[in-house]
Amino acid sequence: MTNTSQKLRGTTRRALGRHAPWALHMLRDFQVRRKETSTRYFDHVRSAFSLAREIDQTPYLKTRPESYPDLDIGTGKHAILEINNTCNIDCLSCRTSLASRKKGMILDETLTRTLDEYARAGIRSVALHTIGDPFMFPRLGIVFQELRKRGMTSALSTNGLLLYRHVDTLIEYFDVCSSIRFSVDGAEKDTYERIRFGGRWEDLLENLELARTKLTPRGFTINFTMVMSKDNFHEVGKYIELFRRYVRYPQDNFLFSFINSLSPDPRYFDTVNLLESHTNQNKMCEFGSFKTPFTFFDGPVSVCCRDYDGSLVVGDLKENSLDEIRADRLTKKFRQAHESGDLTDYPLCRSCNLPDPRLVEVFRHLMRYFIFDQPKERASHYQEKADLILDAFQEKHEVRNKLESNFPSLAQSLS
Ligand SMILES: C[S@@+](CC[C@H](N)C(=O)[O-])C[C@H]1O[C@@H](n2cnc3c(N)ncnc32)[C@H](O)[C@@H]1O
Ligand code: SF4
Repeated sequence: MTNTSQKLRGTTRRALGRHAPWALHMLRDFQVRRKETSTRYFDHVRSAFSLAREIDQTPYLKTRPESYPDLDIGTGKHAILEINNTCNIDCLSCRTSLASRKKGMILDETLTRTLDEYARAGIRSVALHTIGDPFMFPRLGIVFQELRKRGMTSALSTNGLLLYRHVDTLIEYFDVCSSIRFSVDGAEKDTYERIRFGGRWEDLLENLELARTKLTPRGFTINFTMVMSKDNFHEVGKYIELFRRYVRYPQDNFLFSFINSLSPDPRYFDTVNLLESHTNQNKMCEFGSFKTPFTFFDGPVSVCCRDYDGSLVVGDLKENSLDEIRADRLTKKFRQAHESGDLTDYPLCRSCNLPDPRLVEVFRHLMRYFIFDQPKERASHYQEKADLILDAFQEKHEVRNKLESNFPSLAQSLS
């Protein structure tokens, strides 16, 4: 699609969203239905099984590039601007309370300077969080206004508990931000409140109801993301059954992921990680390509969102452009450390452990297919599928075979 037709499409969608949300719904429904043939959804099964073969054949660390020039350096269209690093809760998986960086909210001057530099670098979409919740920021309207001036868009990831403070602003800036991702790590009060420490289940449900009645009818896309662990995996089925009423396309709007070592305190991750035999140190971290710059609320630019202590800062837009930071010795030093494997100077990287991201993809592909195939089933149906997928991940080199024996009819349809 050319730039002009892309812009025209964006303008039409924005105008519809503002003045005739029902027409936007019809357009979206038409587009989804057109793509939503069973062939398309069976492609998810194909992708899952073929990824499983790759996992068996090539260990994750062997898939990592040898050097950063092999990666596409610094040409991304997406960036992060941390408008605040404060949070209203303290999830066990993330523990924002352990961050030693200064806490605070962005000043107008830093906001405009950063967005000007992002615009100059060709960045089109800007996420507004690192560790912290964007709904803690009281002046979201100003941020959206500055994004709108520069023709940029955003999508929010939030625990959702403070949505009620921002509903009107969101409606006003639908053209800038039309998608919200609710991070919810449980389908029962006890589980939710234990993991999302400080959050109240009843508050969550009230805010979700607000999203359903005020935002969905205006064309907002609502997604749910669940970080799966030993603490909540048994609620995957219930999660789908409970939260599907808040989304429009359940097969597309649930984003499952497995817990990683985001929090600086590794104990929770070590206890509840479901994929121990597939967990690796994050060598040749993709953030070293500097494709996605992370600008902190007070100005410094970091290579990583997991920068709880500022030790991965490589520059500051007050002094340098993104291009200069990209070419600077600190960015180079970070890359060289990953390329040589000597991470002595980067304790955060040494303690960054991830389950093989290909397994996350396999899980997502298969669950999308199962939800598409039976969208109105009960929790136990989806739970059974989720359990069988997880079972296939337990052996290090037998993922494909295990999937084939756990899902014989799918395997047969593939042949
Ligand atoms: C750090 S949060 C910040 C944005 C917002 N506060 C929220 O909760 O969505 C961004 C995402 O990271 C996810 N997350 C938190 N801890 C994680 C972990 N240990 N492993 C994987 N994802 C995690 C959250 O569920 C959320 O979807
Ligand atoms: S995951 Fe989000 S909501 Fe939870 S502590 Fe981290 S920043 Fe806050």
